[in-house]
Amino acid sequence: MMLEIESLWLNFGGITALSDINFSIEEGKISSIIGPNGAGKTCLFNCITGIYKTRMGSIRFLGRELVGLKPYQISKLKIARTFQNVELFNKLTVLDNLLLGRHNSIKSSFLMSGIFWGKACSEETENRRRVEEVIDFLEMEKWSKHIVGNLPYGIQKRTELGRALSMNPKLLLIDEVSSGMNAEETEDMSRFILDIKEEMGITIILVEHDMRVIMDISDWIMVLDFGKKIADGPPEEVKKDPMVIRSYLGG
Ligand SMILES: Nc1ncnc2c1ncn2[C@@H]1O[C@H](COP(=O)(O)OP(=O)(O)OP(=O)(O)O)[C@@H](O)[C@H]1O
Ligand SMILES: [Mg+2]
Repeated sequence: MMLEIESLWLNFGGITALSDINFSIEEGKISSIIGPNGAGKTCLFNCITGIYKTRMGSIRFLGRELVGLKPYQISKLKIARTFQNVELFNKLTVLDNLLLGRHNSIKSSFLMSGIFWGKACSEETENRRRVEEVIDFLEMEKWSKHIVGNLPYGIQKRTELGRALSMNPKLLLIDEVSSGMNAEETEDMSRFILDIKEEMGITIILVEHDMRVIMDISDWIMVLDFGKKIADGPPEEVKKDPMVIRSYLGG
């Protein structure tokens, strides 16, 4: 198991956003989290990435406790995410946004780079190499020099995914990357996500509203409702679960 979550709780004043959540994520798989609006899906991502602090529970990544770590420490462990609301530098190019995504992998400080030119230069080369690999992988060559803010929403979403991928994560959290996309863009996105798993070998946790995408590409699904886990298992099983049908799939 790559990620193990035990008895996780999250409260905001009187609201319980996550209530005693327990699950494990298997390495090399696509695990999906579904549930109605406000179910706690993004909160869960925010707990894993250290943006929200939980007072109770444990989140272990490759055996290491994440609770108590700062977001930058967690991203150094090679956990990357996309944001539900695209969080890019709008005035910069696609390429520069992806290079900034490598920020956490840059090891030499400015002082260090002054002393050890060689190390800084080889990091810069490695950054460029990875970013170009990601741009190629996501078929974004023709947009790489474009200013992100001027690009269609679907391409901005793809850039958001590219930014996360550029840090070469072990675990990638994807939050509603296909929302606002048309059918063709959604299909492309599903294919990219499958390829990220199969070709790059990256473990994925997917939050997604499009049930076709979910049922097509997930190895495992967990269903949240009002901050509680109401079901989990392989897609065929979850699809038939009476509680899931009642509270989420509808009728
Ligand atoms: N910073 C916050 N302060 C107070 N309440 C919050 C905060 N963040 C989330 N919540 C609440 O926690 C609950 C879960 O929110 P969350 O964003 O995780 O839902 P979600 O499952 O991602 O929904 P959606 O599908 O709409 O994105 C909601 O009731 C939300 O209002
Ligand atoms: Mg959300």
